[in-house]
Amino acid sequence: MNITFRPFNVDTDKETISQFLVDTKKMTGTLPEDPQKDCDIYVSAIQNTQKRSNEFCVLVISNNITIGFIDIFASNKNPQVGFLRFIYIIKSFRRKGLGSIIMEYINKIMEKHSCKKIYLDVSKNNEIALAFYQKYGFKFLGKAKNNHLRMFKDFIIQ
Ligand SMILES: CC(C)(COP(=O)(O)OP(=O)(O)OC[C@H]1O[C@@H](n2cnc3c(N)ncnc32)[C@H](O)[C@@H]1OP(=O)(O)O)[C@@H](O)C(=O)NCCC(=O)NCCS
Repeated sequence: MNITFRPFNVDTDKETISQFLVDTKKMTGTLPEDPQKDCDIYVSAIQNTQKRSNEFCVLVISNNITIGFIDIFASNKNPQVGFLRFIYIIKSFRRKGLGSIIMEYINKIMEKHSCKKIYLDVSKNNEIALAFYQKYGFKFLGKAKNNHLRMFKDFIIQ
């Protein structure tokens, strides 16, 4: 499968990413009362993150179709630490092992920014994501806010 990545563009991708977010929150029973406001806040966060590097929040493309999204960034307070804020693969492309291509992208970006550790928070209800992250080497650290669990992965910088 030919996969490429391109930076999030607020004018053309806001709706797509909002749908990804709403779908994930519905699935985990975490959809807030005002999903539109939630999406607007999230899109602003993406735009802020992109000011530091447009490689941090990217759409995953196959044959000109958006098949997913990766939101990964290096902390601006502690540059050796990265955060994986959100990843999403559209339903028809799931369970095909695309996670390994996503993880390759994440590894490349983390290495480029000299990150030694990456954290993420995942909803306790998101059993698929919990299995997914464990498969790709993330370990549990403990509880996080809003019924989430914090996971981490260490990187060895060559
Ligand atoms: C999580 C997600 C990105 C996984 O994508 P994917 O393309 O299916 O991932 P892969 O094919 O690489 O699967 C890797 C592993 O994840 C786990 N997994 C994926 N789908 C699963 C399912 N339906 N049931 C159980 N485990 C599953 C398995 O451990 C799988 O390994 P295996 O196929 O060897 O059993 C995708 O399900 C998704 O976009 N979900 C909605 C968004 C979301 O929840 N994001 C995470 C929160 S930030």
